[in-house]
Amino acid sequence: MLPPLLFNLWRVHDFFTEVLTKHGGTGEFKGPWFTDMNYLVTCDSLKVQHMLCKNFDNYVKGHDFRDIFEQFGDGFVTADSETWKYIRNLLHSLIKQRRFEVFVHQTVQKKVYTSLLPILDHAQQQGRVVDLQDILNRFTFDNICSTIVGHDPKFDVGLPTNVAIEKAFNESKEWIFYRHEVPGSVWKLQKWLQIGQEKKWLQIGQEKKMTEACKSFDDFIYSCIASKREELSKCSSVSILREGMEEAPFDLLTALITEERGRVHDDKFLRDAAFNLFAAGRETITSVLTWFFWLIAKHPIVEAKIIEEIRDNLKTDEKKNNHGFLEDHRNHNLDQEQDLKKSVSGVVLGMEEVKKLVYLHGALCEVMRLFPPVPIERKQAVKADTLPSGHRVNGNTMIIFSPYAMGTNEEIWVKDCLEFKPERWISDRGEIVYAPAYKFIAFNAGPRICLGKDLAFVQMKMVAAAILRKYCFRVVEGHVATPTHSIVVLMKTV
Ligand code: HEM
Repeated sequence: MLPPLLFNLWRVHDFFTEVLTKHGGTGEFKGPWFTDMNYLVTCDSLKVQHMLCKNFDNYVKGHDFRDIFEQFGDGFVTADSETWKYIRNLLHSLIKQRRFEVFVHQTVQKKVYTSLLPILDHAQQQGRVVDLQDILNRFTFDNICSTIVGHDPKFDVGLPTNVAIEKAFNESKEWIFYRHEVPGSVWKLQKWLQIGQEKKWLQIGQEKKMTEACKSFDDFIYSCIASKREELSKCSSVSILREGMEEAPFDLLTALITEERGRVHDDKFLRDAAFNLFAAGRETITSVLTWFFWLIAKHPIVEAKIIEEIRDNLKTDEKKNNHGFLEDHRNHNLDQEQDLKKSVSGVVLGMEEVKKLVYLHGALCEVMRLFPPVPIERKQAVKADTLPSGHRVNGNTMIIFSPYAMGTNEEIWVKDCLEFKPERWISDRGEIVYAPAYKFIAFNAGPRICLGKDLAFVQMKMVAAAILRKYCFRVVEGHVATPTHSIVVLMKTV
């Protein structure tokens, strides 16, 4: 199995999908005797439901996973048992707060208006072809920086140091996928040998590059932590700060420093939490938006329906808002911030407005079915167990499931599953059709389901609606869109 896999690395997700379809949804992957590669690979939703929901305690991330994802430290992506429970509960209580939701959405709304749209306007005026994925990736980096560490690097200003931070973050995760594909002994040897000269054929240079990138990004996070601690120490006490913040918007770093719950949140804890949040909430959104605009460009009827839905909703909202608008005008002392807020809300829909866009919601679900941002997931059995359909696994068995292959599994999505059809998500009553998380697996399922799902939907809808109201994108002739083989599925640019 290893030679065919290596031969198909450039199209690894489609290769897995084909092999799994041929083998009824589940197969064993065995590397040669000298490797430690022995996996059960599946796209069977009942097995996935069993691992993620029904027998959750028996399927962990495990040591090997933590080795591969070493940059993630002890954050929620790699943690198991009590450590995971503590971080999950903590983040749940912070991320689900109304004021955090409001803060994130105001940040995104302002950023779309002051940065994303002007960049696209400029490109349009110059008649330039744009790499939309690159623009979106920088935009999402600024957003996640603002909401996690309370600092906006402002990519549009183009300061070289800021671009370097973004580059460092991208590179710090670049070779993680590769570590899944080769025996652990191989990438560990490459990492160990990195002291030497760059030797591309051995990938040694890549491991070295990843370590250096990780260090640069850590320096950035640690400096954010230090300045945040200093800023907070200037307040007379944390309790006063908390009282003051009750109504105010806040970034997650401030919240994590002030919300210790029986455990000390030292700098390493904060670094790990921040790195994991950056990874969870940044490229995932870039990925969905990139594939969304690509699919929309290929499906003009869907595009027209989304635009019509936005217009219809705006018409009703304008009628409702008329009174408020007149009242605002009576106040002649509007300061700059209020002026900005007003102009922004005329161009970029707010969170309550986008929540009404059902068809757009369906289109985004459809994008994530076909291109789930996290294309493969990995679990390790703690004890021997029997999976649905009678498959026996031993303790320590490594199980890989493929959300990518699940998205086009006919048993889950019936015959037309290769088509892009937002309609499959809309009921006769015009509401969103619910699909159980273990089938629509883009956000994971069970106790470890994504905590940022609702936030992500609103952000993506704000960006998609703002862009579609102003621009119509077309794919450059001859451009072939292929998924990258990385831990988050982006689009290959060459
Ligand atoms: C389209 C956007 C997103 C997608 C597709 C997505 C997908 C996922 C997936 C697949 C997982 C499970 C990862 C694993 O356990 O291996 C996850 C977990 C998580 N996500 Fe998201 N995510 C998105 C956006 C966000 C955002 C914006 C945030 C918050 C800022 C966020 C926060 C989290 C957290 C905290 C977890 C950990 C849950 C746990 O382990 O208990 N995600 N997400």
